[in-house]
Amino acid sequence: MKRRNEETGLPLKRETFSTSLTVFFATLGSAVGLGNIWKFPYMTGMNGGGAFILVYLLFVLLLGIPIMLSEFYLGRKTRSNAVGVFDKLKAHRFWKIIGYMGLLSALLIMFFYSTVAGWVYAYVFRALKGDFRFLKNLGLEEARAASEGIFTDTLTGVSPMIWQAVAVLVVAVILIGGVKKGIERVTKTLMPVLLLLIIISAVRALTLPGAGQGLAFLMKADFSALTGSSILAAMGLAFFKLSLGMGTMVTYGSYFNKDNNLMGTSFKVAFSDVAVSMLAGLAIFPVVFTFNLAPEGGPGLLFQTIPLVFSMLPFGNVLLTAFFVLTAIASTTAMLSMVEVPIAILTEELKMKRRLAVILTTSLMFLVGVLTTHPDAVFGTVEVAGKNLFDLFDYLSSNLLLPLGGLLITLFVAYFTKKESIREELTNGGEIGNGKFVDALLFVLKYITPVLLIIVFLNALGILSL
Ligand code: PFF
Repeated sequence: MKRRNEETGLPLKRETFSTSLTVFFATLGSAVGLGNIWKFPYMTGMNGGGAFILVYLLFVLLLGIPIMLSEFYLGRKTRSNAVGVFDKLKAHRFWKIIGYMGLLSALLIMFFYSTVAGWVYAYVFRALKGDFRFLKNLGLEEARAASEGIFTDTLTGVSPMIWQAVAVLVVAVILIGGVKKGIERVTKTLMPVLLLLIIISAVRALTLPGAGQGLAFLMKADFSALTGSSILAAMGLAFFKLSLGMGTMVTYGSYFNKDNNLMGTSFKVAFSDVAVSMLAGLAIFPVVFTFNLAPEGGPGLLFQTIPLVFSMLPFGNVLLTAFFVLTAIASTTAMLSMVEVPIAILTEELKMKRRLAVILTTSLMFLVGVLTTHPDAVFGTVEVAGKNLFDLFDYLSSNLLLPLGGLLITLFVAYFTKKESIREELTNGGEIGNGKFVDALLFVLKYITPVLLIIVFLNALGILSL
């Protein structure tokens, strides 16, 4: 039994992950999610394929990894939540805005993320019931239409809202378990299985007749398709994908074991995350072309194409069920990290009991999410600036709040933190020889990351045209 402070119920010793391997799986669990399997493929499709991926990779390298490292540094150095970090470092209270913006981003993302996670859970159920079995008896055209029909049906009425409740409930139950018994236990068991399954589906898709066209689409770099807004979208995706700019990696970093090699972890996570996104693309685009779906098919891509792939395979229904179970797992492990941001703030800053913090946060996320993000919900048809609330939450968080949070984190670490403190943390007090990397990182953080962020913003706002 953990010893607890009698008044606050907080554990006397702050929990950490047990080993560097479990740090890796938990952090990868945060990064890998609907962003890889749902967003990356459809955004690549809508923004012209390979060129978008190249820009995206550049952002991962010049923004993603430096900001992830800054967040890890802040978290593990202070062992604190996204708001408390700045008190611990005795920084001006202005900087706490980073934590509060993170809180807001966590909520906005959860509102729509849990909606999509609900669709995934619904698909698991439908696959178990065998709703997709008949697809294999149809011709390509009918199978395609039928698959679209199932998706539309899944989004209609109250059932998607109930599935959203289920998705949020699962997250709440795991989080009540805490860092080790909740987050760590779930991610270390499920991430390896997820990786294996995504490889199997990519390999399978590559043996389909449309594989060549699908590959060409991913690899072809058509730079004319790139616009200011697609560059902004690639940047937003890099932030969203790596769970950056909102204190998630500060919070997880605060749970890292003390001998973890932060640089190593950030590279491994970023690299594996890109690999999973590419595998998802490889699993999806060949099918898109084989079944004559439009590559720019939009957010429904995952829900229409994957059932098609699997339904054509021997034991298709078993594989289909497994794939959606694993997508559900990916979305769940990502949500754990999102919700952990407010939980850590509430339990540490307001001394709230963990259980209460989990219940309050997840209830709020569910209630607002369910009332705003479904076409059939009370506020489902409300539009702000030509976007429905689902798209608005997505846009505001990915394209505005996360990059802005990232900019502030970069500026804080690059210009308001002692170099020596960063060096100390990234080399584990001189134990690992990352010295050269630290110099390079500090250079990028000072001169490249913020400038790039500002240029992309100005470009997207039309103030500067590239
Ligand atoms: N990285 C997750 C994904 O790509 O699906 C999304 C995400 C998780 C964003 C956690 C933000 C976050 F704090």
